[in-house]
Amino acid sequence: MNPLAWLLSVGAVAGLVFIAVLTVDGVRVLMERLRRERAARPLDLVVTARQEVAGHLVCLQLRRRWGRRLPAYMPGQYVVLSAPLGPGGREVRRAYSLAAWQAGRPKAYELGIKREPQGLMSSWVWDALRPGQRVRVLPPKGDFVLQPAFGERVLIGAGIGITPMRAMLHAALSEPGRVLLFHAARHEDELLYREEFERLAARFPTFHYLPTVSRPGADWPGARGRLDAAGIIEHLLHPAVAQFYLCASDAVMASLTAGFEAAGILPSAIHREAFGAALGAGGSGQNVDLPGGKRVVTAGEPSLLHALEAAGCAPPSECRAGSCGLCRMQLLGGEVRWGLAPGCELQQGEILPCICQAVSDLRLA
Ligand code: FES
Repeated sequence: MNPLAWLLSVGAVAGLVFIAVLTVDGVRVLMERLRRERAARPLDLVVTARQEVAGHLVCLQLRRRWGRRLPAYMPGQYVVLSAPLGPGGREVRRAYSLAAWQAGRPKAYELGIKREPQGLMSSWVWDALRPGQRVRVLPPKGDFVLQPAFGERVLIGAGIGITPMRAMLHAALSEPGRVLLFHAARHEDELLYREEFERLAARFPTFHYLPTVSRPGADWPGARGRLDAAGIIEHLLHPAVAQFYLCASDAVMASLTAGFEAAGILPSAIHREAFGAALGAGGSGQNVDLPGGKRVVTAGEPSLLHALEAAGCAPPSECRAGSCGLCRMQLLGGEVRWGLAPGCELQQGEILPCICQAVSDLRLA
């Protein structure tokens, strides 16, 4: 073959290889994008079971129609319920931990929801959502997940904070290793899933269920009082290598975390999921100026987000605990008080109104 023809044929082959690589890479990128879009698409689910507990807790089971499987998730993750409950039918979103776990794609999601006196979503779930009704659910997500075990797993839930712990327990029991579950409640009838935990404790010698009730009836046979770090640590065989998972109010988590750290537990071994900031009642009479000349005046709401919601001009929200970042706003002037440290990355001047209160007049964008 003459050298020119040889060079041309080598060039043609190289060109074809290059185009093929580009095409394969393009298809891979496209498939990944489709997969991500599909994973973020809201699910249209049906309530298939509903159980009220202790007058203010409700357990829901949600399934797809035709029995199709749901997206898989990690133990500890949450889903977001979405419904048009805001002023003028605006969409309201609330995050709820998945309360059960199984390997692979489940047939149902289980949720445990506490009715909050002024909670738009929880009141709707309690008052209106019944078996057979449909509900829009954003697929599972969240970083509060069970880590690979190197030592004992210590699951600590206060009140409704037991829900992610139940999912973590289901996963932990599928592996070797000791698991301790501490559940604190005010009254014994608020110990959600108690019968199941007692059954599991009888079946698995590695599992220890340790409920604590702060206002028990006279015949409550178990532990009384509140959770405290020293009382938890004394049940452990090797506290220094245990992994701690906490889901409770901010005040309970702060006190337990301080106790664990004082006892020498590394901060990296303490994993936390907040319900929301325990800010208490906020101030009244602060002006919050928004783009477009709109002004909101605070009236003692527990967070800046509540104040903006009351005025019908709140940003979208999901977790309401400073972790998803969805409600972020830019603070152009004034001062806020943070009830929790933000659990997501923020740019200079950004705030999360779900975990802040105004302590002066504010200018937001
Ligand atoms: S709603 Fe998630 S950070 Fe505010």
